Amino acid sequence: MSGMNALHVSAPWWKPDSGRTLSIRGGRPLGGTYPVSGAKNAALPLMVSALLTPHLVTLHNLPANLDVAVLSALLQRLGAGLSWSTGASGLSLTVCADRVHAEKIDRELVARMRASVLLLGAVLARCGEASLPLPGGDAIGLRGIDFHIAGLRAMGAAIELEGGMIHARAPRGLRGAEIALPLPSVGATENLLLAAVLARGRTVIRNAAREPEVTDLATCLIAMGARIDGLDTHVLTVEGGAPLAGAVHTVMPDRIEIGTLACAAAITDGALTLANARLDLLGAAGPLLRAAGVELETIEGGAVARRAAGGLVGVDFTTQPYPGFATDLQAPVMALMTTARGASAITETIFEQRFRHVDELRRMGANIIVRGRTALVRGVPGLGGAAVTGGDVRAAAALVIAGLGARGETVLDGLDHLDRGYDGITAKLKACGADITRA
Ligand code: UD1
Repeated sequence: MSGMNALHVSAPWWKPDSGRTLSIRGGRPLGGTYPVSGAKNAALPLMVSALLTPHLVTLHNLPANLDVAVLSALLQRLGAGLSWSTGASGLSLTVCADRVHAEKIDRELVARMRASVLLLGAVLARCGEASLPLPGGDAIGLRGIDFHIAGLRAMGAAIELEGGMIHARAPRGLRGAEIALPLPSVGATENLLLAAVLARGRTVIRNAAREPEVTDLATCLIAMGARIDGLDTHVLTVEGGAPLAGAVHTVMPDRIEIGTLACAAAITDGALTLANARLDLLGAAGPLLRAAGVELETIEGGAVARRAAGGLVGVDFTTQPYPGFATDLQAPVMALMTTARGASAITETIFEQRFRHVDELRRMGANIIVRGRTALVRGVPGLGGAAVTGGDVRAAAALVIAGLGARGETVLDGLDHLDRGYDGITAKLKACGADITRA
């Protein structure tokens, strides 16, 4: 793969594991401390924000995962200088984007990661032009980028879609605009925010996403000197156009990893200390997990998760924009519900095709039927190991949880997906007592 060289150069910590499958022997209660990483979905837009200024931007607590490695390779192709270090604040990156070459966006790398569409707003705002292939990433539905494009057009960009490419130009710079998003899209909000801080004048983004990762990005942009109001709300107002300075920012903890590992502790009837976890980030997933029989307690420096004495109980939930139940936790919590007492009706409203884990969980003995956007899970006494494939990043995480709770051996394929989203999950689980090997 020709992208690999670039990955190696720009992310020296990234050691692609040669193992193509993960073998899990389930049934061992997890214990000890699981260090929660920085949030992947915050890290990616934060890394892109460094392209908005010629000054140094330092990010601490980055997750060492494949998406971060791919994006760092992309930043480097665009002309940014990267410097990595590891210390008490985890993995840190300093980006020097004193020059940005808009024409150097790498097709193959973009195709590997949907979040690379975030480069569009930032590179366009910084250079007055940007061309990139229509982004790749998880196969979990249409995932259009029409809101991104309409928003940038409203800011004065001329955008053409041609032969699988997006060509955007704003030779005289972007200008502030009133934008109302049809849905509170996380990526569109971030893309437009990145563009708006360099656009001349005021931009108002209505029906903006208010996921904590959007707030983390806005907080870093404010540290760079941007003027943004409405953090944590559905209306963001940006007074743009002033040059930005550098900044130092620590990436927020990964709320999806927190919820996923709480499921792992509960399904194995273990207890995990989730270092750096913040339960307030879970939104509706916190009370829901508690109702399902997962004890969650905040402690100094993190949280503890374990199965409640009364055992796991089926609960119904529907995925929603934040602070509703996160779509990224739908698959892991479904895995947990497969062995709960009673039934669980799980409705997915954010993405089409986000039930790719269902057939795989069935192979392991789960009783699940799907009717449209709802999966009905009837708890079974136990799962059995099987050969399964993780079709997207969260499906892969769900299958790891199921495997940890199942009798016998589960062999999981599709590890690229797992690597995209989870920093060192195999080693971290092993340190917590899981019988898990990558081969
Ligand atoms: C981000 C997260 C992803 C999470 C999702 C929802 C990152 C890198 N990824 O993805 O993990 O599952 O938020 O919380 O942060 N849509 C359109 N047109 C657009 C944009 C979106 O139709 O221009 C639709 C999508 O198809 C989807 C819905 O809006 O049905 C929400 O998508 P969005 O919030 O944009 O998700 P992402 O930003 O791609």
